[in-house]
Amino acid sequence: MTPPALAVAFHDLEPEPSDFRLDVLAGLSKPQKELPPKYFYDTPGAKLFEAICALDEYYLTRTELEIIRVAAPEIARLMGPNPLVIEFGSGSNRKIRALLERFGRLAAYISIDISKDHLLEASRDLAKSHPGLEVIAVCADYTTRLDLPEPKDPAAGRPLGLFFGSTIGNFTPLQAHRFLANGASELGSGGAMLVGVDLKKNKAVLEAAYNDRAGVTAAFNLNLLERINRELAADFDLARFRHHAFYDEERGRIEMHLMSLASQEVTIEGEGFVFAEGETIHTENSYKFGLEQFQEMARAAGFEPARVWSDPERLFSLHYLVVP
Ligand SMILES: C[S@@+](CC[C@H](N)C(=O)[O-])C[C@H]1O[C@@H](n2cnc3c(N)ncnc32)[C@H](O)[C@@H]1O
Repeated sequence: MTPPALAVAFHDLEPEPSDFRLDVLAGLSKPQKELPPKYFYDTPGAKLFEAICALDEYYLTRTELEIIRVAAPEIARLMGPNPLVIEFGSGSNRKIRALLERFGRLAAYISIDISKDHLLEASRDLAKSHPGLEVIAVCADYTTRLDLPEPKDPAAGRPLGLFFGSTIGNFTPLQAHRFLANGASELGSGGAMLVGVDLKKNKAVLEAAYNDRAGVTAAFNLNLLERINRELAADFDLARFRHHAFYDEERGRIEMHLMSLASQEVTIEGEGFVFAEGETIHTENSYKFGLEQFQEMARAAGFEPARVWSDPERLFSLHYLVVP
């Protein structure tokens, strides 16, 4: 017998394949070649990211989860009854699960992610383990303006946005400002946002987190070239590129690149792209912050930083921001 369909409302606003094609061709035509990090997360990329989260060197996931568990009762008190929770880049839903352990009823949980298969799987799993919860999955690019669906519950409390996993660090400072400012205006007065922010620290600890011994981050980075081969007519030879990640102390960011190991030409959709030996494609930034530095950024975007939690080693931080 087929099991009954699970109660996940699904809104499909997935970007068009033509956006990927245009972004790849434009990014590789720049003097410093680059690719937007949102394209890491096709189905194999989302799986590789999950494997990164379990790595010893990748302190971010376990540390943020621990902070969420400690802070959850206070967050529940601050939010009041029946909040409407909206998560941006929800991934495996691991962190909303940690919050739900401590929260009472939610009006609904709206889960937004660009990675469609992963979003659907994680949403169905969550609905299965929380039968009373309205789960709404939205496949979309959260950097675009979204008209979010209304929950069924007419008595929804205040809205709470979640942006975990140091994902804010993948934006440039201007993009981060825009994302936060849009969030503040969409949540509205009385709304709140929880943001997981990675902190500045020892260069060796940071560089190890993005250069794991098992090579999972390297595989995640190289998967972007495999995705281009899979989805566009392209002939990247993966053996001729290598993962390169380092901390730029002055800019306060990890940079991830794919470095060409030879002088070579790659064809994408009939267009030739020449790589010199040692030339790189810049694939991701991961900005690290000081506590006050991030609070200042949140204030400039229209939030009032109301509470911040960190772990005893001050590796990571969780910011509770309210819209005045
Ligand atoms: C760094 S991971 C964090 C995942 C999860 N929040 C966590 O903390 O483990 C970023 C997540 O955001 C999603 N994502 C990245 N860029 C996105 C975009 N522009 N729009 C929507 N989702 C995006 C990815 O698919 C991925 O699930």
